[in-house]
Amino acid sequence: MNRNSIRAAASKVANQSGVSTKDVRTAIKSSIITRQTKLILPERSVFIAPERAELYSQMRIGGTDPTMFFSLTFNGILPVELPNGMKVAILPDIHSPAHDVRLMWAVKAWLFDYKPDILIFIGDLADVFALSAWPISPRIPTDLNMEISVTRELLDELIRISGCRHTFVIMGNHEDRTRRWLQNFGGKVANLSNPQSLEPVLSFHEMLGYGPADHITFIYDRKQAGGMGGGMTINRVLKLIHGTKVRPKPGASPRAVTDDFMSSTLHGHTHRLAENFRQTLRGVLTSREIGVLANPNHPYLSYMDLLSNFHHGFLAAEVVNGQLMGNIVPIVQITTGDNRRKSVFYFDGKLYKAADRG
Ligand SMILES: [Fe+2]
Ligand SMILES: [Fe+2]
Repeated sequence: MNRNSIRAAASKVANQSGVSTKDVRTAIKSSIITRQTKLILPERSVFIAPERAELYSQMRIGGTDPTMFFSLTFNGILPVELPNGMKVAILPDIHSPAHDVRLMWAVKAWLFDYKPDILIFIGDLADVFALSAWPISPRIPTDLNMEISVTRELLDELIRISGCRHTFVIMGNHEDRTRRWLQNFGGKVANLSNPQSLEPVLSFHEMLGYGPADHITFIYDRKQAGGMGGGMTINRVLKLIHGTKVRPKPGASPRAVTDDFMSSTLHGHTHRLAENFRQTLRGVLTSREIGVLANPNHPYLSYMDLLSNFHHGFLAAEVVNGQLMGNIVPIVQITTGDNRRKSVFYFDGKLYKAADRG
């Protein structure tokens, strides 16, 4: 890599990451970054903090070196291997644009502090309300274009603030609304492809506008036929899916999913927050459902039972001894001095508070 290409790459990366050009140039030239990464950096415009670069080079996505993993989409259960010390943030159902905007400020502040290497959205990132099969009240305007652009903006912001190296978006039943709508009403154009990207025009990832140069992977069902059969395994022992089972009590759904797979599991979809641990002959199996980050008062979500089954939260994790050790972070409501309700959470000695305004 010559001097000019380093300079050009550095200014491109600096513009996007907010890091100074000098720091980026030093990082690119640093011996900690592998030759492969140096080659890929100008192409993919991602800044890697030198102290995290070594971890990144040890990661494997689908058995492949991450610098060589250009797959924008994957169908099925994607195996991911993460080295010790790697940090992961897993965010549950955001239901953009019906997300809790005030609460999201606190989540962004946490992502900035925590600096996860990997960011995982475990489904229902977007609500896709405009394509809902349920009867929609004429009082609620629908605008798919607005939903998609707000989701793209939010996703970009979360990725940028976290400084993560790779993002995985597991499809939930809400993103699957686009596929179901096409199947039911537009089957003849379902495979219409963008001549440049060769991706189906109305697929969720194509509508959001990401391409293979972006460090993001959208995980779909194995047969592309339907449902939410896609997910990930982390270090072969933990299975992540959007969630298929909804039991009436918190904790019962992930337990049932673990019974199905006989492995540790983690899912969203239920909008509840709970964890179980079970000792088996194969070691301790963990079962978690990690809540929701949507706004329960948003008109898109008026069907929900808010009294007992809507728990704000997410999961912070780090790989220790080859295992992803995760902590559910519950978000609770407190009453402030001036008698207002406010969502807060506590992490690593710091209190994160929702913003006062949206
Ligand atoms: Fe869901
Ligand atoms: Fe959901």
